[in-house]
Amino acid sequence: MKKLARKKILITAGPTQEPIDPVRYISNHSSGKMGLALACQATKMGHEVLFIHGPIALEIPKAFKSIDVISASEMRQVVLKNASKHDIIIMTAAVADYRIQKPSLQKIKKTRQTLTLKLLKNPDILKELGRKKKKGQILVGFAAETQNLKQYAFKKLQEKNCDYIVANNVARPDIGFGSNENEVWLISANQNILFEKTTKAKIAQKILKRVTQAA
Ligand code: CTP
Repeated sequence: MKKLARKKILITAGPTQEPIDPVRYISNHSSGKMGLALACQATKMGHEVLFIHGPIALEIPKAFKSIDVISASEMRQVVLKNASKHDIIIMTAAVADYRIQKPSLQKIKKTRQTLTLKLLKNPDILKELGRKKKKGQILVGFAAETQNLKQYAFKKLQEKNCDYIVANNVARPDIGFGSNENEVWLISANQNILFEKTTKAKIAQKILKRVTQAA
């Protein structure tokens, strides 16, 4: 059997937190489990992994290098700094699409009946990676959708210049946020492959087998 070449793989995971004031933030339900499963399986397969993650309540093995970040802008900085050194980049992270325009330096007191927070769009890290993609580098995005899964995923594949999009239906409670199982479509320019419902570890193996073959 042909021995798998050792690849350098950058994997992001988890949510980002966008501060409102020193005690509050906006975020999302991402648990980081899919990204961590990818990092663990890639390491087991003999690849070199850099794991960049937002705030997650999971124990991170010492078997690979990891860097923790809080906000989308921190994640962007760390990812862009390390991107060119990697053969494969897998953006599993649920990066917050918006941040508070002007986080308060002091705790906001509840003196008013209504409170309006002005949100500003965050840069799209994956799109930037797609623009800067070096020759031979494989870029894998995730698409968390609640409807029109394959159509929206294919649109992201094209718009973000990715080689693959892993699309999952986050509206399904059995495979949604925090679940230990997943069912995904692996979308590329010329084929859509369904990886039927199984553990996130097995889904990670299947994704990695495909994307490392392409690198
Ligand atoms: N992503 C990113 N930077 C952002 C937002 C998303 O790098 N600011 C990446 C995610 O890591 C994921 C992919 O883009 O790999 C798709 O994320 P998703 O939230 O599904 O889609 P969006 O592009 O944010 O579009 P929408 O929320 O409108 O579906």
